Amino acid sequence: MTEPEPSTVAALAADAPSTKQSVDPYNVSGEIGADGIAKAIDYSKLVEEFGTKKILDEDLKRFEEVTGHKPHRFMRRGIVFSHRDLNLILDRHERGEPFFLYTGRGPSSDSMHIGHTIPFDFTKYLQDVFDVPLIIMMTDDEKYIFGGPERTIEAVQSYTRTNVKDIISAGFDPKKTFIFSDFDFMGGAFYRNVARMSKHITLNVARAVFGFNESSNIGKIHFGAIQGATSFASSFPHIFGDDESITTQIPCLIPCAIDQDPYFRMTRDVAARLHFAKPALIHSSFLDALQGPGTKMSASIESSAIFMKDSAKDIKSKINKYAFSGGQMTVEEHREKGGNADVDVSYLYLRFFMEDDEELARIKKEYETGKLLTGELKALCIQHLQEYVKAFQDRRERVTDETVQDFMAQKRLVFSGNPNAKVA
Ligand code: TYM
Ligand code: TRP
Repeated sequence: MTEPEPSTVAALAADAPSTKQSVDPYNVSGEIGADGIAKAIDYSKLVEEFGTKKILDEDLKRFEEVTGHKPHRFMRRGIVFSHRDLNLILDRHERGEPFFLYTGRGPSSDSMHIGHTIPFDFTKYLQDVFDVPLIIMMTDDEKYIFGGPERTIEAVQSYTRTNVKDIISAGFDPKKTFIFSDFDFMGGAFYRNVARMSKHITLNVARAVFGFNESSNIGKIHFGAIQGATSFASSFPHIFGDDESITTQIPCLIPCAIDQDPYFRMTRDVAARLHFAKPALIHSSFLDALQGPGTKMSASIESSAIFMKDSAKDIKSKINKYAFSGGQMTVEEHREKGGNADVDVSYLYLRFFMEDDEELARIKKEYETGKLLTGELKALCIQHLQEYVKAFQDRRERVTDETVQDFMAQKRLVFSGNPNAKVA
C-alpha cells in the first residue's frame, strides 16, 4: 500500500482553511478528519448547498433521445453529475434554436495536468453532439491578479500560449471555436457587458460569494464580472452579429468542474436583472490528486498529478510511487479481504479514462474480491494513462503557431446547430 508523502499531504491540506469540506474557485478540499487526512468530497452535499440539480437517469435518457448520442462515459458514470437548466438547452436543441458552449482555463503553469483535460474532453464531445459555436476564455488576467507577488503579466501571457496549444489538442473544430485571452480581447462589446455585470454586483455580494475581505485587492473583487460577461452572446458580435435584441437572448451551456459554479450562480442573478438569457451549466466532479480522494491536483505540486507533458516513464513511476492504494498490507490479506476500489486512485483514474463499461466493472469486481492485486491494478492504470497521454502528445505535436492564430482569430464561425437551426 502506498502512503502519500507527508510533505505533499501537508501542502495539499494547507489549501483548506477549515476542517469542513470547502469547494470554491480558489480551493477544493474534502472534510479533514481527526487524522488530518482529507475525506472524499461529498458531491450530493454540494448539489444541495449550491442549489444545482443532480443529473438523473431520466435526464440521461432525454439527452440521448434529443441528441441521438450515447451519453459520454463521464455522464454514464456520474462523473458529470450536476446541472443548471440543461433541460432548457435540450429544449432549444430540439426546436433548432441557437445556443453556444462556453468554457475556460486560468493559465497558471506551463503544462496542464490530466485533471484539466476532463472539462475539455467533455466539451469536445458536446461540440460534436450539438454542432454549435464554442468559446474558450483564457483568464490570464485572473491568474495575474490572484497570483503571488512573483507572478508577472509576461509569465501568464506565455502560459496562455502554451495552454492554448494543450487545449486545442483536445481536438476542437477550428471552424466552430473561438479562443481568446482576456488581456487581448478586452474592449468593445465584451467590455460593455463587463461594465453591465460590474454595475450589478455589490461588494457585499462578491464577498458573500467568494469570501473576499478588506485585504483582497480590488482586481479580485471585480474579476467575477469578466468571467461572467463571457456567458453573454452579445459579447461576441463577430460570431453572433450585433443586434442585441437577438444576441442577448441566446444562452450558453457551460461545462466546467463544480468549483467554478459560484461565478455563474452570480452571473445568472445578474442576467435576470439585465433581461439577458441565463447561462446553463453542466458540472463535473474532480479527478482526485494521486494522494487520494478529497485532494485536488495542483499545477504547482509535481507529485500531486500526472502532467500532460509527462513521459511514459514519469507516469509509471508516479503511479507506482504516489498513487494511493485501497489494497491490503499483504498479499494474503488482500486475497482474503479484497481491496477498496472506491478510495483506490488507480481504479478511480480508470473510471475516468477507460471507455469500456464492462471491462471497468470486471476490474472493480476482481479487485474487491481479491483476485486482482494492487500491483496488477496499477499496471492497468499505467498502461491506460500512458496511452491517453501519448495520444494527446501526438495531437499536441501537430499544433503549430498558425493553428493557434486560427483558433484565436476573430472570424465568422461555421456551424449548423441542428438541421433546423437559425443562428443570428
Ligand atoms: P482552471 O484553469 O482552474 O481550470 C480549468 C477547468 O478545469 C477544471 N478542473 C478540473 N476538473 C477535473 N478535475 C480536476 N482535478 C480539475 N482541476 C480543474 C476547472 O473546474 C475548470 O473547468 N477561472 C477559470 C477559468 C474560466 C472558466 C470559465 C472555467 C473562465 N471561464 C468558464 C470554466 C468555465 C479557471 O481558473 O479554471
Ligand atoms: N496490497 C497489495 C496488493 O494488493 C499487497 C502487497 C503488498 C503486494 N506488498 C506487495 C503485492 C508486493 C505485490 C507485491 O497487491
